[in-house]
Amino acid sequence: MKEVKFAVFTDLHYDHIHDGQRRLKNFIADIQEKDIDFIVNLGDFCKATKNNNSLLDILNSTGRPYYNLIGNHDSDSCDREEVLRFFGMKDSYYSFKYGDIKFIALDTCFIQYDREYVPYCKKNYDSSAGIYPVLPEEELNWLKKELKEECPYFVILSHHSFENEFMKRGVHNRNEVQQLINDINKTEKRVLMCLNGHDHADSIRKIGDTYYFAVNAMSYIWFGPQYEHFTYSEDIHERYPFIKDLVLYEEGLYTIVTILPDGNIKIDGMEGCFQTVSPKELGIEGDWNGRAITARISSLNTDNNK
Ligand SMILES: [Fe+2]
Repeated sequence: MKEVKFAVFTDLHYDHIHDGQRRLKNFIADIQEKDIDFIVNLGDFCKATKNNNSLLDILNSTGRPYYNLIGNHDSDSCDREEVLRFFGMKDSYYSFKYGDIKFIALDTCFIQYDREYVPYCKKNYDSSAGIYPVLPEEELNWLKKELKEECPYFVILSHHSFENEFMKRGVHNRNEVQQLINDINKTEKRVLMCLNGHDHADSIRKIGDTYYFAVNAMSYIWFGPQYEHFTYSEDIHERYPFIKDLVLYEEGLYTIVTILPDGNIKIDGMEGCFQTVSPKELGIEGDWNGRAITARISSLNTDNNK
């Protein structure tokens, strides 16, 4: 097999920031130079409205395939069907193959009430007494079937993490998924890595033989009204009322992941900085949502022989 190389970004949250187009265009310009096979968007991209079709045009302009995942905020102002239509997706979870690697894209935006699973829709999670985010039983069974296919390597993509333990950040039934992955790794097949967005933070953690990679957001960290700050022009604050609660990164963070024929992984990270004010200047230090606060994406070079 030849190496497989893809670009990943997540959590643009286009409608909440003033410079989303710039971030996306810079990303596209950067990756044009690189010999990548496809692009992955791990979710929380934008509102699924006609006005935002231009963002899809930007992604399409690369001529490379791109794969979308649904984030918790993508359906904040519409239902699931509209999001799928916007992205031209047939299903909210699916798989695709490049070389010897099967990529499995999951939809973790569900609320569980006993044995019933309700997809996120118009912020229904906000007032819900149910369990969320969760991978529904039917989808978990589908994942098990996918992992049974004859294929040496797998990569799992999801909006929410399968290892973040902090409050409701990670997928509720993540232990079941981790167990499934560990079982697969005992055979001749291997789940090389799981990639997620949503955490707006940078983390790479190895559990068993699998790397769990939380990809930092393309745009910002949300700290909430408690840390509001007015560091942009009046006009920007008027047009983007939530920007006062965010700390934006200057760069549109993204990463390039290469999977080598022997299963080794190379992550080309990115160093960034905060745009107008740092969390430290706002009095925020330590962890946030169970992750270190940072405007960067880490690099990684694995060596299976070690
Ligand atoms: Fe999210």
